[in-house]
Amino acid sequence: MHYWKLAPLALATLVTGFASTNATADTPTLSQQEIQERSAASREVIKRFASTLQGELQAAMKSGGPTEAIRVCNERAPEIAADLSAETGMQIGRTSLKLRNPNNSPDRWERLTLQGFEAQRAAGTPAPDLPPRFTVELEDGEPAFRFMAAIPTGGVCLTCHGSSIDSDVQHALERLYPEDQATGFSEGDIRGAFTITQEM
Ligand code: HEC
Repeated sequence: MHYWKLAPLALATLVTGFASTNATADTPTLSQQEIQERSAASREVIKRFASTLQGELQAAMKSGGPTEAIRVCNERAPEIAADLSAETGMQIGRTSLKLRNPNNSPDRWERLTLQGFEAQRAAGTPAPDLPPRFTVELEDGEPAFRFMAAIPTGGVCLTCHGSSIDSDVQHALERLYPEDQATGFSEGDIRGAFTITQEM
């Protein structure tokens, strides 16, 4: 289903993709080939995360409706991310400027990158076409390759992230997320982003 679709990662994007926020003379640089390999590995793991989650979400929506599907997002999203992280050695997560779960808060680079996606969309690029962004940063003194891909809001997302949410769903969400900010989205908005950190 196309709302998980990620924009193609063109070489032109790779060359201009650096949006480094705290690069210093100590921050290592990567060759174009290394950048391409790390970007490809990031995209691959994001694809697996997205398709696993999407599959479980759809199955739960079918069998138990949206309140059952909330459980999938609440319990399974972090579990799937943790399993993939353990398997690949990458840190994998989802983040947003309008959060449902405060555990998904963006750090500095993630916030800047989400803002960059928003600006690019405001300038006319549709959310599904936004190219991923990456950087090399020092994380606690250690260099890390970081990669983010925007997540477009699809029609099915509006059940739980839209403007008119069914009252049972609303109540279930309020119980789990008293500070929920992740409603009021429209189809085509940027819901958030997948975020990957690879050690170097
Ligand atoms: C059945 C309800 C439901 C549906 C449908 C749903 N979500 Fe969510 N979404 C949630 C819940 C619950 C969370 C909080 C997950 C957690 O605790 O980590 C969440 C969290 C997220 C997050 C993580 C950032 C945050 O706000 O915490 C993103 C990104 C996201 N959803 C995107 C989507 C997209 C894109 C779709 C449509 C393809 C979608 N969701 C459909 C319920 C839903």
